[in-house]
Amino acid sequence: MATFPLEPFRIKAIEPIKLTTREEREHLIANAGYNLFKLRAEDCYVDLLTDSGTSAMSDAQWGALMQGDESYAGAKSFFRFEGAVKRIFGMSYVVPTHQGRAAENVLFTVTVRPGMQIPSNMHFDTTHANIAARGGRPVNLIADLGLDPTSHAPFKGDIDLEKLEHFIGLVGPQNIPMGMLTITNNSGGGQPVSMANVRATSELLHRHDIPFFIDAARYAENAYFIKLREPAYENKSTLEIANEMFSYADGALMSAKKDALVNIGGFIALRDADLYQRVCNELILREGFPTYGGLAGRDLEAMARGLWEGLDESYLAYRLAHTQYLGDRLVEEGIPILEPPGGHAIYLDARRFLPHIPQADFPAQALSVALYIEGGIRSVEIGSVMFAEKDPETGQMVYPALELVRLAIPRRVYTQTHLDYVVATCKRVYEQRANLRGLRIVYEPPMLRHFTARFEPL
Ligand SMILES: Cc1ncc(COP(=O)(O)O)c(C=O)c1O
Repeated sequence: MATFPLEPFRIKAIEPIKLTTREEREHLIANAGYNLFKLRAEDCYVDLLTDSGTSAMSDAQWGALMQGDESYAGAKSFFRFEGAVKRIFGMSYVVPTHQGRAAENVLFTVTVRPGMQIPSNMHFDTTHANIAARGGRPVNLIADLGLDPTSHAPFKGDIDLEKLEHFIGLVGPQNIPMGMLTITNNSGGGQPVSMANVRATSELLHRHDIPFFIDAARYAENAYFIKLREPAYENKSTLEIANEMFSYADGALMSAKKDALVNIGGFIALRDADLYQRVCNELILREGFPTYGGLAGRDLEAMARGLWEGLDESYLAYRLAHTQYLGDRLVEEGIPILEPPGGHAIYLDARRFLPHIPQADFPAQALSVALYIEGGIRSVEIGSVMFAEKDPETGQMVYPALELVRLAIPRRVYTQTHLDYVVATCKRVYEQRANLRGLRIVYEPPMLRHFTARFEPL
């Protein structure tokens, strides 16, 4: 039986949503070129496109907006925000950015030169693209278990340390400006990374004098998974766990739009004074002065509160149980998902859902379109549209190991009834799965094609 996700909050303000008819949705998705990013949000009933920037803020956060100090330099709001980051991340230098990819752009601009390579368990797509945009090569070294959608291993986000050691030997530490871990691993199913793996990654990289950075978008969910699953940590607070995780790193990047429960914001946290100086110079060019970094003072206030609310254990217990509830209910209906449920999302396994559609015909995209037409649910493809690439040497298409549809759950937004509706919709699509067909691309941009590509049904 699915667990019972008890909400540690009640609803104070509501936002109306409406369910369109099936005929309307067929017309809307055709007009959008069968790309769910191109739909209007008001035409989606349950919008599970992303958990990024879609959180419901608390009364404390909304109240704090009025305390935003909008001074250009040295605003009070910056110091409140900086205090929260320093306490949780334990790093001396904190630089706000307007969101996660802006932090990536600034950091990689000052650290990556053409030909360099950055290993990670799995880079998120914007991280991948920002490294590539600087002429670098992002490399994913996730442990094989993390690519098996049926394995119930507790830490499927772990990097493969043997692969990492081999990679360092092959490429040479001088060509590796940093190694990274994405916690939790968004592109691999929102799966957590164990403390043991964070520690061992840090030791291995440092043995070769390679700096270690954490992509911390969902660090709080990762910390709570460690508390639940890694025996030595069951009696530690999530703050203590976060402190220990970051103690192994030289720096962190964070899209605060996830675990800091805000609608916009991000930052870079660093230990090294020289790197901080170079980051600040680049930041001034791209984002703004280092005490606001592309954000309003009120945004910094919301982040300062949200960082603490996102680490609260009653909230995290609810958050992971809420996501697990959706996963468990889908499994009860026999629907194939990536197991076990991740922190922020459930991933439908499109390869097992639609085995008759080859990857070249984008089965995960076809499934996400079907969920929209059936029930007005907006999801996102994380498969061949997002990650298939032409091998520069052979000219052959290389398809990703996982072909997923992500149902990302906005934080504190949808109720259990909404999740039950999602299950009922998935079930109806599953019953009709033999009738579904693939898609072909009729337009694609040179980079990050999933945002703007257009498709036609086959
Ligand atoms: C792991 C990870 N890193 C980086 C980013 C980029 O953050 P943003 O969307 O704030 O630019 C995301 C966004 O989804 C993410 O999931």
